[in-house]
Amino acid sequence: MTSTPSPGFKSKHMSELSRETIPQHIAIIMDGNGRWAKKRLMNRINGHRKGMDAVKDVVLAAREAGVSYLTLFAFSSENWKRPPEEVKALMLLLGKYLKSELPLMMDKGIRLRAVGNIEKIPPKERAVLQDSLDKTSKNSDMVLSLALSYGGRGEIVSAARSLAEKVQAGSLSLEDIDEDSFASNLLTSDVPDPDLLIRTSGEMRISNFLLWQLAYTELYFTETLWPDFGRDDLIAAISDFQSRERRFGKTSDQLVEKKVKLC
Ligand code: FPP
Repeated sequence: MTSTPSPGFKSKHMSELSRETIPQHIAIIMDGNGRWAKKRLMNRINGHRKGMDAVKDVVLAAREAGVSYLTLFAFSSENWKRPPEEVKALMLLLGKYLKSELPLMMDKGIRLRAVGNIEKIPPKERAVLQDSLDKTSKNSDMVLSLALSYGGRGEIVSAARSLAEKVQAGSLSLEDIDEDSFASNLLTSDVPDPDLLIRTSGEMRISNFLLWQLAYTELYFTETLWPDFGRDDLIAAISDFQSRERRFGKTSDQLVEKKVKLC
């Protein structure tokens, strides 16, 4: 089932969102660039180019909505298998995006983070990335994480290996391995789990994204292709999120009891 707005749906304005329940962390699988281009008889790379413009809009809208963490799946560990010219174009776009958006990130207090096998990013783009990471490191109004050369299974295997090495070295005991210590060995250890995951383009898969972290995340799927996704679509996704009841394994009655106690 998708969460595409029903025919009578009236889109909300940013100011109509409930301030108390803005998702603290939104993660997005930005899908559909290729199909967007194909529909227009264009090269796939034009779709990615337009996708980059959507990234700019959505980052700003998320910041305006008061989202504290935004994580974008920009390039998966599997995306290296795409045709070399597409991989090259995506890397060039990454460098272009980072250079053009740095002043805005500084102005809006956005701290950039990168999650994934950054060593695999070509040297030129990696240097631009490092520059943006360094320059934005003291910003504190929103954290923008770009998942680059990222895969969830690989991340989990690395965490398991790192814990095993610590046990082998005697700095950690087997009994100390629990969900908290495991999570602290993931690439996202300094970021809370996503509250809301958005995937565009009608595909309903997780595609190896944040496998551990999405355990209790609300999922939102929309038919909109990523290059067409903008501020209003983000507001619609947040509005949908705000209509949900997050029970984290508890019953609805327990949640009502907790609310009454808090009042
Ligand atoms: C998936 O669409 C999208 C990607 C693999 C790359 C995402 C890249 C961007 C949004 C542009 C650049 C981003 C930054 C941060 C500079 P797809 O190509 O799989 O689309 P398809 O399923 O329709 O073929």
